[in-house]
Amino acid sequence: MTASGVRTEWLDETDSTNDEARRRFRAGEIGPLWIAARRQTSGRGRRGRAWADLSRNLYCSGLYSLKCTPGEAAQLSFAAALAASDVCQAALTGRTVKVKWPNDVLIEGQKVCGILLESADAPGQVVQLVIGIGINVMAAPDIPETPAVSLAQLGSGLDAATALDHLVDRFEHWRGVWAREGFAPIRDAWLARAHGVGQRCLARLDKETLEGVFTDLAADGSLILELAGGQRRLISAGDVFFPGALG
Ligand code: BTN
Repeated sequence: MTASGVRTEWLDETDSTNDEARRRFRAGEIGPLWIAARRQTSGRGRRGRAWADLSRNLYCSGLYSLKCTPGEAAQLSFAAALAASDVCQAALTGRTVKVKWPNDVLIEGQKVCGILLESADAPGQVVQLVIGIGINVMAAPDIPETPAVSLAQLGSGLDAATALDHLVDRFEHWRGVWAREGFAPIRDAWLARAHGVGQRCLARLDKETLEGVFTDLAADGSLILELAGGQRRLISAGDVFFPGALG
């Protein structure tokens, strides 16, 4: 149990904490509950990518049953990014932690955390949300296209168990803000920490790649790009690259 009163559970090994969360929902769990694993044998990233299993990193998933629309529930990916960036920022002094659309956390342009939001099939008006978060606490994978870093490489002494407790409490903070005041303060806080606002970027989507200037985050969480031919909103998650700067 964390300070915010949310249950946490540690597993030695699972395929993916997101898959374990879906199984728990199917078995009748309603959350809030966070499941963490010391080892993932089939960790998943966004867009069908694998998420590396490196010793003593944090792999966890939050389970929440929410009475809202799937679109509103998706706004919590930004609350999750804020919570993860709070954890990273608290672990490191003198470094600036940023968030990057849709929901990465970066330190000096290098990825330190990834978030994979999924929803399970729930009856009625309830969204069963799975918030999967991986934080490079001890080690970072070597992926040429996505420079990555760990908190330990930057001098932090944080361990995965302490990171989980802090992450859950910060997520509960931002979820409370969202529940009381809606998405606007989450959007404002996210934009204040966002990497690349006003910069040119390449957005790689499933079927096309767009080049434009990242100008804003819309009220529904989509990224607003200013293109040569006008404005475009990116609703479904793609990969955004900022040429000339890492990340
Ligand atoms: C990304 O591609 O950036 C998202 C990565 C999300 C990884 C986390 S680790 C815990 C949870 N379980 C998974 O299989 N994936 C998420």
